[in-house]
Amino acid sequence: MTSSPAILFVCLGNTCRSPLAEAAFRKAAAEAGLMAEADSAGTAAYHIGSAPDTRSIAVAAQNGADIAGYRGRQIAPEDYHRFTHIFALDSANLRDIRRLAPDAATATVALLLDEIDSRRGADVADPYYGDAAGFAVTWAEVDAAARALVRRLMAEEP
Ligand code: 4NP
Repeated sequence: MTSSPAILFVCLGNTCRSPLAEAAFRKAAAEAGLMAEADSAGTAAYHIGSAPDTRSIAVAAQNGADIAGYRGRQIAPEDYHRFTHIFALDSANLRDIRRLAPDAATATVALLLDEIDSRRGADVADPYYGDAAGFAVTWAEVDAAARALVRRLMAEEP
């Protein structure tokens, strides 16, 4: 039996980086004709129910994605079964995702930038304390990784 991929993108707050990763992936998957589910979450509970950071909404809009309706949530035990892949935006997120995993987790857990050969092991830096230019860098990074991920998933399709 095969099932379509279900991808969860996880950062700390689910307001800056992971909503952008989700949006970039949705866009890349739609453009490629890949059937996949996508969502995002935070390891922390700071922003449950909140809209993304206004700077993330702005950079997404500049790149043709509307994320104003996204709402923050925290990663939950069932996510480790519901999703086939969980991607951490940085290495601290990766440690937290692994620490919070239930015993019988089935999802593959990895760093998002591992999808780009030249960026293996690298973090998507947190733009929270920066300016709009930092959010443009974040978009470029998550967009490149999302496109690489879509290419890989398409190649893995039966
Ligand atoms: P994110 O950025 O993890 O990319 O969503 C942050 C958002 C909020 C906070 C930290 C990082 N915060 O401390 O509230």
